[in-house]
Amino acid sequence: MHSVLNYLARHQARFVEELCDYVRFRSVSAQPQHAGDMKACAAWLVRHCRSIGLTAEVRQTPGHPIVIAKTPRLPTRRKRRHFLIYGHYDVQPPEPFELWKTPPFQPTRRGASLFGRGASDNKGQNFAHLKAIEAYLRTQTELPCDLTCIIEGEEEVGSSSLAGFLQQHRAELKCDAVIVSDTGIPGPKYPALTCSLRGIAAFELTLHGPSRDLHSGMFGGSVENPAMALCRLLGKVHDDKGRIRIPHFHDGIARLTKYERRQLARVPFNRRAYRKFLGVPQLHGEAGFTPEEQRSARPTFEINGLTSGYQGAGSKTIVPAWARAKITTRLVPGQQPRQVVRAVKAFLKKHCPGTVRMELKAGHGAEAYAVSPTSAAAQAALRALREAFGHEPVLLREGGSIPIVNQFKKILGADTLLLGLALPDDNAHSPNEKFDLGIFAKGQRLSALLWRELAK
Ligand code: BES
Ligand code: ZN
Repeated sequence: MHSVLNYLARHQARFVEELCDYVRFRSVSAQPQHAGDMKACAAWLVRHCRSIGLTAEVRQTPGHPIVIAKTPRLPTRRKRRHFLIYGHYDVQPPEPFELWKTPPFQPTRRGASLFGRGASDNKGQNFAHLKAIEAYLRTQTELPCDLTCIIEGEEEVGSSSLAGFLQQHRAELKCDAVIVSDTGIPGPKYPALTCSLRGIAAFELTLHGPSRDLHSGMFGGSVENPAMALCRLLGKVHDDKGRIRIPHFHDGIARLTKYERRQLARVPFNRRAYRKFLGVPQLHGEAGFTPEEQRSARPTFEINGLTSGYQGAGSKTIVPAWARAKITTRLVPGQQPRQVVRAVKAFLKKHCPGTVRMELKAGHGAEAYAVSPTSAAAQAALRALREAFGHEPVLLREGGSIPIVNQFKKILGADTLLLGLALPDDNAHSPNEKFDLGIFAKGQRLSALLWRELAK
């Protein structure tokens, strides 16, 4: 183990250069014009994995390709443990470009951070695992278990191809557990095992009004404005205590236990600092819950995008023909995406005025995920975290979603260990995304130590 850790320490500069090469790919899964960049990024990953001694290949899917890389299997009769390492090479759209201090796909080092779209979510995090494996292979240190990396290209758009892929390759991917570094830690002194993630249900709601944009002076007042109708409709979703008013939306949710509330309260939290960090004049959330609970253990209904009418310079006096909202709800354990979709549909239908035509498309969905921190694998992870970071790990509930972890359980029967490396100020999904290079190095150590602990 000494030589593995030593190897990692000696090669940090090169690792950062390589991570820059990875971040340079414009692997934006949501935007069709980047399909070629997605392919190129997958091909680069395969070449890179091969260069560090893994067998690797691109596997085609109906969507973006998946990269599979394996450690060399030893000729042994002993049954060795097998772990999957899951990550994603796709990134969120970089817009708005003008808010980036340096271009999103021109990775730039400033201080101890590497800036670029995907640096933290998720390229830097999954690359840390590849570097740990490289250290084993290059120092001829025997890996105590077999490892298979799955790096997909559709995580940011709902992982729709990967579930089918898991079904098709169940035998090949059968494993003792899945390791995922795609979550966060509260700070460098708070390494974390995330024990639950929120689920999600996505919608696109369009209200159609007049058959074309109308002169608002000539016709305005005599016809419904779809943008106004959309605002009124969506304004009905919450009450003035921040609670979601949709009947049956909350069906199945268990109350937070005292133990869970205590766990959530273990990480120091300062309201004022949090407010300042977010840049808002006041915090806002569901009454009766702390901000920490609101953002991880309670469901939400959010508008992610709102479009209608004229968006260019100056003004244009029209009644727009339509208005659209992109919406996602975050779900907590107990909620069923299908039931939530039904409840949301019924609510919007009931409250939509007859003056517009409503079109509601339900998109991707996933249940929340929860895993016990007391399993042998979780305990192994906690030991590795402690040693790699030199601090006592915390157990987290997190608000983000990684839809595929439910399928790892359902299809492969495997629990997922969520060992994130993202800091709260990494600006995931925002302009100026960054990855802390100190955490990058610790993540590599964590990965190296983890295989030893898991094989014990
Ligand atoms: N890395 C995130 C998930 C995450 C973020 C988990 C923060 C825990 C804390 C992942 O890349 C992500 O953004 N997932 C999407 C999934 C969605 C598109 C289905 C998300 O949560 O919005
Ligand atoms: Zn993401």
